[in-house]
Amino acid sequence: MTDIVEIPGKFITLEGGDGSGKSTQAKQLAAFLEDQGKEVILTREPGGAPGADDIRQLLLTGDPDRWDVIGETLLFYASRRNHLRLTVWPALAAGKWVISDRFADSTMAYQGYGNQMGVDEVQKIHDVTVGEFAPDLTYILDIDVEAGLKRTHGRTHNEDRFERMDLSFHNRMRQGFFEIAKKNEHRCVVVNAARQIDEIQTDMRRTLKNRFFS
Ligand code: ADP
Ligand code: TYD
Repeated sequence: MTDIVEIPGKFITLEGGDGSGKSTQAKQLAAFLEDQGKEVILTREPGGAPGADDIRQLLLTGDPDRWDVIGETLLFYASRRNHLRLTVWPALAAGKWVISDRFADSTMAYQGYGNQMGVDEVQKIHDVTVGEFAPDLTYILDIDVEAGLKRTHGRTHNEDRFERMDLSFHNRMRQGFFEIAKKNEHRCVVVNAARQIDEIQTDMRRTLKNRFFS
């Protein structure tokens, strides 16, 4: 087991398309960090705080046309603001490690690229709501869109508003994540998510150790 240098809490995000395996990998990463003696908060967006969870329902259920892209972007950011204020920032200030299943790169990829709101427009809302704050490390789990969506088909919940959007939307979103990774090389790592769960997790842990542990 690697020795851990005592450092303050870190903010780690998992991003990618629907069914890319983010929740599965986030849980295993949290378990790994806990084994290393870290206090870990595992959270997700949209949601992860009072108010934010209510907004989640508004965003993820119902007809794909329920919101236009501006309306849904504002809702994602209203939810994100509570998530940061009530969950993420207090945890980081207390020295905990926070792992979030999705964060702001999802809005850029889904609304900015997928729904074609545009990079500059999303960035403006981001700057007002989040400011300079950013993750210490972002994994972008990449998988062919159809293969990812196929993995979600067994789900029984009704939070499928985005999963029901067409393939061209999902492909623009995937390309959007590649663009985000290119622009943010210092914090983003693209992970091939079309492999076995264990293989992916081994890669992700290696990255974590290289960045933060010595
Ligand atoms: P996401 O959070 O990105 O939507 P999940 O972790 O919920 O993805 O995974 C979606 C489904 O695919 C789940 O049923 C999960 O068990 C399965 N799954 C996750 N990772 C893999 C993988 N590497 N190979 C095959 N199936 C996977
Ligand atoms: P989630 O439960 O994370 O879905 P999955 O497990 O399939 O990844 O649901 C979140 C959905 O909302 C997902 O389809 C992506 C979408 N989303 C956005 O469009 N913009 C955002 O900013 C966020 C956080 C999520």
